[in-house]
Amino acid sequence: MADQAARRRTTSNNATDVKTNETSKTASGSTRKTKDGLSVVDVLRILGGVFLLNCLLSYFITNDSVLWGWRPWFVRPSVVMRYIQGPVSLTDTQLLSYDGSDANKPIYLALNGTIYDVSAGRRIYGPGGSYHVFAGKDAARGFVTGCFAEDATPDLRGVEWTYIPLDVAALGTVGVTREQKTYREQEVRKAKKKVRDTLDGWATMFSGAGKKDYFEVGKVRRGRDWLEKTPKRGLCAQAEKQRPKGKGAEGTDAGAAYRGGGR
Ligand code: HEM
Ligand SMILES: *[C@@H]1O[C@H](CO)[C@@H](O)[C@H](O)[C@H]1NC(C)=O
Repeated sequence: MADQAARRRTTSNNATDVKTNETSKTASGSTRKTKDGLSVVDVLRILGGVFLLNCLLSYFITNDSVLWGWRPWFVRPSVVMRYIQGPVSLTDTQLLSYDGSDANKPIYLALNGTIYDVSAGRRIYGPGGSYHVFAGKDAARGFVTGCFAEDATPDLRGVEWTYIPLDVAALGTVGVTREQKTYREQEVRKAKKKVRDTLDGWATMFSGAGKKDYFEVGKVRRGRDWLEKTPKRGLCAQAEKQRPKGKGAEGTDAGAAYRGGGR
């Protein structure tokens, strides 16, 4: 009885031994050699080397990035700092002091209520910079009309007229045909979309999604009725002059010649 049990134990021990041996054999086999005679460590070394070379190449080609321009927010110290501190909330008046005239303060600009840090562009937005006019304020309207000083306001009412063809305004309210009405509605809708797209495009750049080292910092704090209290304004003269001609007017696309299209 006892003899049998002992034998059984030995057998099972042997079985375990065999299994352990097999395991260690495969384990050591894989650490030592793959089919091609390369160890896993070698493979890791090669991959690491390739990665390092890739980083070096990226750095030499892009001149600033080891990851081919991939710059998630968490690798940007100023953005991480802002994230920790939380968003800022400034009135339009408070925003004015962030126009770059104080070298110890960051440079902010706002676009339709959202504030961005553009300190990385101090050359452009600081005093004497070509776009200093945008610093320390919300000049969203000017970003659409191009009237930088005159339209340094977040008031976007009617700004879509920048993109509405001249023949649309020519339509009176009486004797308007169904086609003319439809045409007007279409053009107004298209123009409003273009305003959104234009501002979204700038917002994308200021949020740092592109190559620029800008980032969002917060919101402008305004009274609920700020817009109603602001006097309405017409389209600035320069934008009025540059409005598209409209239906049947060929050649409004001035850029076509430069892009070398078929025409
Ligand atoms: C609605 C019209 C326009 C708006 C809203 C606008 C806005 C801007 C802004 C915000 C920047 C700075 C981008 C950055 O932070 O890097 C910029 C740069 C620039 N813009 Fe304009 N721009 C307009 C029209 C023009 C026109 C018509 C010209 C050419 C005559 C022009 C020439 C330039 C140049 C050369 C730069 C580079 C400035 C630099 O790096 O110092 N822009 N533009
Ligand atoms: C500007 O901001 C207002 C209020 O946040 C929003 O309702 C509006 O759609 C924005 N306009 C554009 C063109 O993005």
